[in-house]
Amino acid sequence: MSHTVVIYAHPYPDRSRANRVLFDAVKSLPNVDARPICDLYPDFAIDVEAEQAALLRADLIVWQHPIYWYTVPAMLKLWWEKVLTHGWAYGDGARVLSGKRCLWVTTTGGDASAYDEGGMHAHPFSVYEPVVRQTARFCHMHWLEPLIIHGAHRMNDEQRAAYATLYRERLGAR
Ligand SMILES: Cc1cc2nc3c(=O)[nH]c(=O)nc-3n(C[C@H](O)[C@H](O)[C@H](O)COP(=O)(O)O)c2cc1C
Repeated sequence: MSHTVVIYAHPYPDRSRANRVLFDAVKSLPNVDARPICDLYPDFAIDVEAEQAALLRADLIVWQHPIYWYTVPAMLKLWWEKVLTHGWAYGDGARVLSGKRCLWVTTTGGDASAYDEGGMHAHPFSVYEPVVRQTARFCHMHWLEPLIIHGAHRMNDEQRAAYATLYRERLGAR
């Protein structure tokens, strides 16, 4: 079973309905290092050494978060800026993350039709994806099919549980 690190960025974890269920479903799996970075670093002082060490140990790196303003919450953006450094994650022959798999797990408030051409968000969701995908690729990671969950506001308990099961399966749990 692969060793997984889950970088979980939810700025309001106590208010979460969707991501909390997902995170709770995987955080105690034996092969998972669960890192709720908004809780770990409430003052934004990310421990870069600890985060990089966690990435080195992992062969599957998960970025899990709600979509905020069409992209990752600021905390995950800060984590990218601090942790994925030049000479370590990219550039100058840096290859420490090379070949590690990257799984993007994200939820949107808008349902799938809100991301239709002419829908509330005006563009298909795939338009908003390349920044995240290319961040992984620029660091030489292998991009996996993401787990994108639309309509998080309207999900019922059964749907949340079904996605939680799917998420556990994506992390190799039986
Ligand atoms: C500041 C903020 C920005 C948001 N931006 C978007 C957005 O751009 N697109 C979208 O579909 N939902 C957006 N949402 C809705 C969240 O994605 C949604 O509340 C979240 O996925 C639900 O997951 P949770 O129950 O774990 O919080 C936004 C919510 C907040 C608070």
